[in-house]
Amino acid sequence: MENCDILIRGGTVIDGTGAPGYRGDVAITGDRIVCVGDCAGWQGAEVIDAAGRIVAPGFIDVHTHDDVAVLETPEMPFKITQGVTSIIAGNCGISAAPLAAEGELPPPFTLMFSAKKSRFADVDAYRAELARAAPAVNVGLLVGHSTLRVGAMGLDLDRGATAAEIEQMGTALERALAQGAIGLSTGLEYPPSKAAAIDEIVPLARRMTAFPHTVYTSHMRDEGDGVLESVRETLETGRQSGARVVISHHKCAGEANFGRSVETLALIAKAQESQEVGLDVYPYTAASTALLHSFAEKCTDVKVMWSRPHPEMSGRMLDDIAAGWGVTREEAIDRLHPAGAIYFCMDEGDLRRIISFPTSMIGSDGIPGSEKPHPRLWGTFPRVLGHYAREQGLLSMAQAVHKMTGLSSAQFGLSDRGRLAEEMKADVVVFDPDTVIDRASYDDPEQPAAGISHVLVNGVVTLENGMQTSRRAGAFLHH
Ligand code: ZN
Ligand code: CU
Repeated sequence: MENCDILIRGGTVIDGTGAPGYRGDVAITGDRIVCVGDCAGWQGAEVIDAAGRIVAPGFIDVHTHDDVAVLETPEMPFKITQGVTSIIAGNCGISAAPLAAEGELPPPFTLMFSAKKSRFADVDAYRAELARAAPAVNVGLLVGHSTLRVGAMGLDLDRGATAAEIEQMGTALERALAQGAIGLSTGLEYPPSKAAAIDEIVPLARRMTAFPHTVYTSHMRDEGDGVLESVRETLETGRQSGARVVISHHKCAGEANFGRSVETLALIAKAQESQEVGLDVYPYTAASTALLHSFAEKCTDVKVMWSRPHPEMSGRMLDDIAAGWGVTREEAIDRLHPAGAIYFCMDEGDLRRIISFPTSMIGSDGIPGSEKPHPRLWGTFPRVLGHYAREQGLLSMAQAVHKMTGLSSAQFGLSDRGRLAEEMKADVVVFDPDTVIDRASYDDPEQPAAGISHVLVNGVVTLENGMQTSRRAGAFLHH
């Protein structure tokens, strides 16, 4: 008999590679997996009976804005209760580091910052704070292009960067990558980076070729009428720079564009023959971000999540607020600013097509810190498993798990996560395939999922029989 710390016995092992599940065990010692499959020769100091349940790698949320949340709410219950053990922060062009700027920053920075102390001059400083906070989940950080712009250009952002400014951003990016950041993100639809043309992005993305396994993730310039053009631009950025590309929260927004994922996915599939391209998606037909005129224009139904000057409007529809005030929609947006909103603007058919695309990864794009967040914050992963895999049969459980684990770790270069295999880090989730489901809704968004029973992060039991423990063992993820 060999001894291990924790033996998870008699479950259905789905290893994260996309291979179908089989009956087996997982043995863990310290923060590593020491046996997967038939572990009859192992004896655990602690035993978790997983009979009737699935044992899978901990889920990786590749699209988050949790840079600050992991410091301020290190328990991260909205991730742990979903089975998420790792998050990638710094998406959509905004990251907490490297950012020395003082003072108010424009949206979408407002999605992430609650206080000035949540800005870090470099990745080392962020990492040190992360070590102090000791979050429950592992954290990988992308460097935001809008963050770099503020560093090089201050608030003079309505123009393309000069050669000298691009050079300065490039140096800052390289330094951040050397300190452990895993890639670069852009948010080209947002005011701070709208004016950046492709020839500003390419030289930055090119700097990453010196750092293996890095990725370029992009919230594209236009996810509505110009979505095809934006996909082309993103692919072109990858081709010209040599960077691996991930298209963020892929969608076709606005009724006029419903059905166009047929075209965008065909374009992506074609490009995959000659370059590294991935994409992430969340399983909802409503988007969520800052409340901005340019976004509200495209969308009939807009729900206000939060508003700094008018917190009492949280959870109400924009049109109702405007009617109540007797003002136009535009005027209401100005009065509510800074604010966040949920935009109902997508087609279920597109969503299903994107989720079932073989190389799409699941990323929540969850935005913590408001009273009425988009339900994706608490519900994304169980919704894919329970609703789209079990109830709708859109995917097998093994395929769904792959999109949250092995596919994601491969695309983000997290080589010791995302699969259940000997020597891998012991990030593990145990869930019931018959009952797993999201419970967060638009009206009641802060509801933990059902059916997730155990979560281990680096070998530490963080969720036990559905209840979060007081232990937190998240690490900083770097290549
Ligand atoms: Zn985004
Ligand atoms: Cu985002």
